[in-house]
Amino acid sequence: MDQRVEAVEAGDGDLQETNPRSEPCVILIFGASGDLTKRLLVPALYNLECDQLLSPNCAILGSANEGLTDEAFRERMTGEIQKFHTRKEFDQGAWDRLAQRLHYTPGGFTDLQNYERLKQRVAELDAQFHAGGNVLFYFATAPRFFGTICENLYKAGFKEGPGWKRIIVEKPFGTDLKSALKLNEDVLAHWDESQIYRVDHYLGKETVQNLLAFRFSNGMFEPLWNKNYIDNIQFNVAEAVDVEGRGGYYDQSGVLRDMMQNHMFQMLAYLCMETPGTLESDAIRNEKAKLLQAVRVYTPEEVSRYVVRGQYGPQLDADGKVIKPGYRQEANVNPESKTETYAAARLHIDNWRWEGVPIYLRSGKALWKRGTEIIVEFKKPPQALFRGTPVRQLGPNRLIFHIQPYQGIEVQFQAKVPGPTLHLQPVHMRFSYGDAFKASRYTGYEVMLYSCSRGDATLFSRGDLVKAAWQVAQPIMDAWAAEPANDFPNYARGSWGPQAAADLLERDGRRWYEVIGEEVLKKAPIFAGGDQLFLSQVSLALRSRQVRAGDLIIRKGEIGREMYLLTRGEVEVLDDAGQVVKKLKDGDVFGEIAVLLSKPRTATVRAATPCDLFVLGKTDFCRILRDHQQFADGVAKVARERFNLDVTAQSLIAH
Ligand code: BG6
Repeated sequence: MDQRVEAVEAGDGDLQETNPRSEPCVILIFGASGDLTKRLLVPALYNLECDQLLSPNCAILGSANEGLTDEAFRERMTGEIQKFHTRKEFDQGAWDRLAQRLHYTPGGFTDLQNYERLKQRVAELDAQFHAGGNVLFYFATAPRFFGTICENLYKAGFKEGPGWKRIIVEKPFGTDLKSALKLNEDVLAHWDESQIYRVDHYLGKETVQNLLAFRFSNGMFEPLWNKNYIDNIQFNVAEAVDVEGRGGYYDQSGVLRDMMQNHMFQMLAYLCMETPGTLESDAIRNEKAKLLQAVRVYTPEEVSRYVVRGQYGPQLDADGKVIKPGYRQEANVNPESKTETYAAARLHIDNWRWEGVPIYLRSGKALWKRGTEIIVEFKKPPQALFRGTPVRQLGPNRLIFHIQPYQGIEVQFQAKVPGPTLHLQPVHMRFSYGDAFKASRYTGYEVMLYSCSRGDATLFSRGDLVKAAWQVAQPIMDAWAAEPANDFPNYARGSWGPQAAADLLERDGRRWYEVIGEEVLKKAPIFAGGDQLFLSQVSLALRSRQVRAGDLIIRKGEIGREMYLLTRGEVEVLDDAGQVVKKLKDGDVFGEIAVLLSKPRTATVRAATPCDLFVLGKTDFCRILRDHQQFADGVAKVARERFNLDVTAQSLIAH
């Protein structure tokens, strides 16, 4: 990564360290009247200006069909920046400096004459701003125009003259392997690979960039980064949002194209690639390409074994009334759509480092939470040493990269609970970006514009990388097209996703690791109001479980070893005759009394609908109860009210 730091003379004569500014250039944005420009590109340029990273010799020229003047464009952006800037405080001076460098020339992307006008305008701005002939073309347009714009720019002679010429292309780069190869061909017909910068906005995220820094600037983990020490890796990109009015686009895409083939494969490559020889952009991109080429390309049988898909249905209230529509009821979506809004996969990386290590990926829309995490789960130590101690099971160590919205890195391990006997408790160490750095939040596009202007392509995808990623995705798309899903919709809005995703790991004797934020715990009355230590202990101890409608969760007469928190769905408590005597729903807790009193279960509990559950094992439950009086009070209250038991917090703890 080209993060050169230069020492410069500050105004007062002191030496201070600062990053160099972007290079002088004219930035010509195609599609400047669209969403991307106002939401991300202009706010990113503004952030660069605020942080003194934008060259004063940089002019911006927008172009699109809409007939705007320079002034009208400036005025519009001046309104929009108030909505979309990411600074804690708005810097009017920086905005004024940027706004006067914004320009606009209307015209269609297919009209060659328009390019003549643009050429004229770029030349004027180049002369006015002393941009040295450098031009950065940004394609913020629908992908169908990429090839045409490349060709027209070439025909209009934009490739010639002094200075550099670089093209930033937005995603999606192709909609399948064939179209991606064709697009590569069209783009490279007139331009060199070194001039093409393919954006994947995940690479602009600080937390994603930090994956490389973390791996290669610390001596502690890299020696363990292989099949000898790592049991499995999980990539989780959960979105709470639905298709947000983009049904027309999404129905042609689906989550495999929209998220996995690009954003998730990029993270996968960073996390699993070999160590590059240098941090030069091509050295890094060579390793990423090699990694993606080592991902097994599945046969149709392997697709059905290792990949599952889902589509969200409506969210219903307790009476079965639709609260929010399912995917098929979204605007511009085919009412019989077979498009997947969720996918989970087990991938194999067939190389020396990772052979045999399952790589699990999952992503979906309309899920229970927003959260992107990468979980590296290490192999468990041998249990034998703990024979004859109360320790029944050793949990794995985990290294968790919290990509968003919470940003941080966490290490989970076991520690001895203070006291004369040997009990273990899962604990963690956490680094939070918010605590460690003061920097303002960025959009993720600053680094793209900045590094492109400096000729650093590290954060951009390359033709061979795009091809390798499509080669993995294509057989999955083909297998799905050949056998359209007949069980859609198969997960409810707001749930953890389809049961099949849980089954995928269960077959391997594993489970998805759910990162449980405090906001989720606080929704359950029994956990709400707990202090930081309590919430942290609970979230480390909870495990997730999904059950199907009709599954028995608790059987009468069994010894209770765990309690349950129902996060979504409905369960029925049955009497001896199998009659429903009570129904429990979201946020309810059950199974805790038998665990505490070490008694057989007094009733059977069955899932009435598909349910998402958190499970707390007996040892952890009792420990947390002992440590947190207010939790013990809550549990005792439930026991008195629901079961008529004569108990207090003290008597439960003593048990
Ligand atoms: C985009 C997808 O590329 O990434 C969207 O088209 C998705 O469907 C978005 O919501 C997610 O990005 P982020 O940065 O919010 O994780």
